Amino acid sequence: MIIAAIVATDLNNAIGKNNQLLWHLPADLKFFKTTTMGCPIIMGRKTYESIGRLLPGRKNIIITRNKDLKIEGAVICSDLNSAIEACNDSEKVFIIGGAQIYRESIEVIDELYRTLVKSSFDADVFFPEIETTQFKKVWEECHEKDEKNPYDYCYEKYIKN
Ligand SMILES: NC(=O)c1ccc[n+]([C@@H]2O[C@H](COP(=O)([O-])OP(=O)(O)OC[C@H]3O[C@@H](n4cnc5c(N)ncnc54)[C@H](OP(=O)(O)O)[C@@H]3O)[C@@H](O)[C@H]2O)c1
Repeated sequence: MIIAAIVATDLNNAIGKNNQLLWHLPADLKFFKTTTMGCPIIMGRKTYESIGRLLPGRKNIIITRNKDLKIEGAVICSDLNSAIEACNDSEKVFIIGGAQIYRESIEVIDELYRTLVKSSFDADVFFPEIETTQFKKVWEECHEKDEKNPYDYCYEKYIKN
């Protein structure tokens, strides 16, 4: 099974503030949907609350230490390992955040999809530094801002060296 992560960061690795995203970039939401569709997605409890709903067409796995948490339609796991084990029958699983879960999973991630938003934002959560020795960029597709997407951005794919 391939363990992938998908994230959107600004130029300083910022990913969120006050449990929300930092930007509204419809093109990236579409990229996220297309890339993850059909695969299980693993997220921290705060990211689930930030999204506010389960994402259709994907097995939603939520990590929490709260043993009483029940969310109809979601799989609840008490740690990252059991979340990954719950996907054993899949070819690929996506870690979709947030900062705590990215940090805890960075060592086991095989592939990383990163949307680089070419601007700087005030933030309270960050993606771990991508060690250039650890991940190698294998694909990039850049776009200029347009009437719907207010920042220049690049889609990037990295694989673990
Ligand atoms: N830009 C992006 O691509 C992107 C993607 C995702 C999220 N975000 C942003 O990231 C922020 C949320 O990230 P965050 O770091 O605050 O929270 P998070 O990683 O989404 O969730 C943290 C929660 O996960 C649970 N957890 C973490 N490690 C655990 C472990 N080892 N065992 C059991 N449970 C564990 C705990 O839940 P309990 O407290 O319930 O025990 C913890 O409070 C938001 O601002 C969101 O918008 C951005």
